[in-house]
Amino acid sequence: MSTGFDLERYSRADLERRSGTKWRRHGGSAIGAWVADMDYPVAPEVTSAIRALLDADDLGYPDQSLDAGVRDAFSERAHKRYAMVVDPSDVVVVSDVVQAIYLSLFAFTEPGDGVAFLTPAYPPFFGAVAETGRTALCCPLVRGVSRYEVDLDALGSVVREGRARALLLCNPHNPTGRSFSRAELDGIAAIALDAGLVIVSDEIHADLTLPGAAHVAVASLGPEVARRTVTLFSASKAFNVAGLRCAVAAFGDPELRERFERFPAHGRGSVSVTGMVAAVAAWERADRWLDAVLALLADNRDLVSDFAAGHLGGAPFAAPEATYLAWLDLRAYDLGEDPAAWLRTHARVALSPGPDFGTEGRGHARLNFATSRSVLEEMLDRIASALAHGRSASV
Ligand SMILES: Cc1ncc(COP(=O)(O)O)c(C=O)c1O
Repeated sequence: MSTGFDLERYSRADLERRSGTKWRRHGGSAIGAWVADMDYPVAPEVTSAIRALLDADDLGYPDQSLDAGVRDAFSERAHKRYAMVVDPSDVVVVSDVVQAIYLSLFAFTEPGDGVAFLTPAYPPFFGAVAETGRTALCCPLVRGVSRYEVDLDALGSVVREGRARALLLCNPHNPTGRSFSRAELDGIAAIALDAGLVIVSDEIHADLTLPGAAHVAVASLGPEVARRTVTLFSASKAFNVAGLRCAVAAFGDPELRERFERFPAHGRGSVSVTGMVAAVAAWERADRWLDAVLALLADNRDLVSDFAAGHLGGAPFAAPEATYLAWLDLRAYDLGEDPAAWLRTHARVALSPGPDFGTEGRGHARLNFATSRSVLEEMLDRIASALAHGRSASV
């Protein structure tokens, strides 16, 4: 399919020459399929916005109007795509989503307080809770027939028994790729409201919702929920500019924003001019590029699903509804707690280690399929052949 964007134009040699960690970390010894960056070129609207800065040597301190531009662009996008009503004055521009998670925990909880989240979880969730001296209250997702699901009864118990003060949600969910349904989110929100929690909703993957699925923003569930919710968002994942460092925290209540902003501004650091210009260009002008990326990702997701059906030793595969991440259950192959380490050596493909995502990640690995078809095919061939010739499946 020709989209006019030539998304698959980078060869393996090109990718290996890049400075980013995805391909550098393991040198030329393994195909990079771990950290959440895509191997595609950046949207032309984004590169030309950055190039205009460079061509004009315009890299001085950004004017406040640029910060306002990011807040306006987010507010408009959130409304148009996700039915979220947020006043631009209640959007705070931060350098990254993980920073905003730490700041939210400092702002809305006290040391020792419980912070509930669903596991397996994006690894910095564990770090943020531990390093801020809060207590992790983990609620495992349950494996349904074709997808991972939220056990609302279990979540309610975890929140009550741990006396949680905040809920850290990741929707769409990394690493399983779930786009939680409105019914699931209504159930989660009811628990949060009942317990008086602040919901910190990391929706960084929302724009990566694949065709056929729909993203439901927590803050769109209703005014009462919105008032308790901080939505974290960034152009960095969907528009492939993670190195530029620009994200937003959007507050459904000015009082939440004021508490967040009590952390001294200089301690929060500031955001790069390139990151802000890129976010505005991406959100306002690059959706045609994004649609092309989503079509390619959906095809890649289907290829990974076919691979999983044939090569995962019978373990059912929950195909992601969003993100470019596939959560692989490799327990049948008896590769130890961390199959990614085994696959790095035996298949020369670098996946993310499952145990980094919590105890449910033992025997699992996360595969990033945001690459060209040819690189993905090579990666899957290598994994299939290593699994076939390495240890035999116990099923
Ligand atoms: C769920 C989730 N949140 C946050 C991030 C990181 O965002 P940032 O680089 O803005 O901190 C990622 C990156 O993969 C992610 O998957």
